[in-house]
Amino acid sequence: MYKIAIIPGDGTGPEVVREGVKVIEAASRKFGFKYESKTFDFGGERYLKTEKTIEEKDIEELRKYSAIFLGAIGHPDVKPGILETGILLKLRFSLDQYINLRPVKLYSADFCPLKNKKPEDIDFVVVRENSEGLYKGMGEFKDKGTKNEVALQISYNTRKGVERCIRYAFECCKKRNKKNKLTLCGKTNVLTYAWDLWERTFYEVAKEYPGITTDYVHVDAATMWFVKNPEWFDVIVTDNLFGDIITDLGAMIQGGMGIAAGGNINPEGVSMFEPIGGSAPKYTGKNVINPLAAICAAGMMLENLSEIKAAKAIESAVIKVSTAKLKSLAAGKMGYSTQEVGDLVVKNL
Ligand code: IPM
Ligand code: MN
Repeated sequence: MYKIAIIPGDGTGPEVVREGVKVIEAASRKFGFKYESKTFDFGGERYLKTEKTIEEKDIEELRKYSAIFLGAIGHPDVKPGILETGILLKLRFSLDQYINLRPVKLYSADFCPLKNKKPEDIDFVVVRENSEGLYKGMGEFKDKGTKNEVALQISYNTRKGVERCIRYAFECCKKRNKKNKLTLCGKTNVLTYAWDLWERTFYEVAKEYPGITTDYVHVDAATMWFVKNPEWFDVIVTDNLFGDIITDLGAMIQGGMGIAAGGNINPEGVSMFEPIGGSAPKYTGKNVINPLAAICAAGMMLENLSEIKAAKAIESAVIKVSTAKLKSLAAGKMGYSTQEVGDLVVKNL
């Protein structure tokens, strides 16, 4: 019996989570796994009423779950940063979800903004470090508000943190067993402390994986290759901020935020799965947002819980629905409502 914590969150989060849960429910009937779930109201509305984001006791409660399924965090009436750091990053850090796993897979050439790229050309995974780097929140102001103001924002990289991420990426690459190629994406030519550590660690760990070809790209060049030659990539490992940036581009080349999913993973603890797009306030409550990203996140969650057959079936159903049915993956242009897309996935399971 799995215990799933559901955090619908803000904006269109609840709408897409509802479809994700619909698909999990159908998969549980079809594949015979059992789960119970509890819904938590963390998010902007709750913050506006109570001034609370997430507290220690909430984290303790969430530790008891098998996994967390999250919709979106971000509210137009709350100053940017409060909910992001107070809820999303707080969850990632407190639960030590040190990997942010973001598959970039094109399901249908029709939805790719790149010319002449087919599904076999865009199929890679970004392993983003999810607990350190510039996200650590370290820094300070000096002489704030004066003409001499200085703002420091520190990228914090530990050998342990970097190594566990790199190890995860090698294992992920080995398990995928596709091109067996792991690319380190960094900025060794400028950020000579952080990326020196990353590079040394990368090549040291690589010695333990003779079957995996290693490669290195600077992050700026990576954005160029994503557009020009995405077929070069298999698994990419990078730090927190670079991973954040390149996976938005990754999402676009796989068809957009409507389809892009990710997992915040603690291989030894509680992991959290989410569509990577935001709360999309302008589409809220209109039944037009694409739930496939959330459904893919639900599939990743089931895979993480070792419900491999269910996860594969969900992915196949998403491929069928997106190739055979949807006119577009964009909100309001799918040719179906949010709920209808959820129903179509269930029908194709
Ligand atoms: C993401 C988001 C978050 C991040 C924000 C909302 C804090 O952009 O999950 O990629 O920067 O990690
Ligand atoms: Mn992001």
